Amino acid sequence: MYSLKIIIASTRPGRRGIAVAEWFIEIAKQNPDFSIEVLDLEKINLPFIDEPNHPKLQQYTQEHTRQWSKTINEADAFIFVIPEYNYAMPPTLSNAIDFLFNEWNYKPVGLVSYGGISGGLRSAQMCKQQITTVKMMPMSEGVAIPFIEKFINEEGRFISTDQIDRSAEILLRELLKWTIALKTMRI
Ligand SMILES: Cc1cc2nc3c(=O)[nH]c(=O)nc-3n(C[C@H](O)[C@H](O)[C@H](O)COP(=O)(O)O)c2cc1C
Repeated sequence: MYSLKIIIASTRPGRRGIAVAEWFIEIAKQNPDFSIEVLDLEKINLPFIDEPNHPKLQQYTQEHTRQWSKTINEADAFIFVIPEYNYAMPPTLSNAIDFLFNEWNYKPVGLVSYGGISGGLRSAQMCKQQITTVKMMPMSEGVAIPFIEKFINEEGRFISTDQIDRSAEILLRELLKWTIALKTMRI
């Protein structure tokens, strides 16, 4: 089994990221090759980066960084559930990435984005630029959900379509291939 960690990037009260993540987890659970853990950045509650040394050195001075390092180190693959804010990725996720370096290296990432007309694609593109710098491999397959509010029901749940479900399944299939391949680069 490979460890798949799903990062919920939005931290706002009333965020839709939870509903999107809950839907995605149900699909991901059908894949017997992944053990799934959710990393909710609202709960993890990292401050703005407060380490004096470059993360490549791994000389962490803060307990929250040591914990974050351990959590990310354990992962074989990631899904980032990201909204788009002002044509950009959420700063919460960007900050969480900046804390570490080696722990992210040679790990694949699937992007599940959402927003208005763009489906969060500008956020996803921006995210790709940052994550390749920490040597992560973004999948070209992805899930992009436009007009997120249209898919939220009265209970606040995300109600998907066959097409969106399919994009999630295709993403997970590709993610598994890269997960297996990249593990060989981390020994
Ligand atoms: C500060 C802010 C900026 C936003 N900017 C954009 C944007 O540039 N493009 C877009 O498609 N949606 C934008 N939206 C709409 C969000 O994508 C939408 O509200 C989404 O639900 C936000 O994710 P969250 O609810 O998980 O925080 C913005 C929302 C907020 C709160």
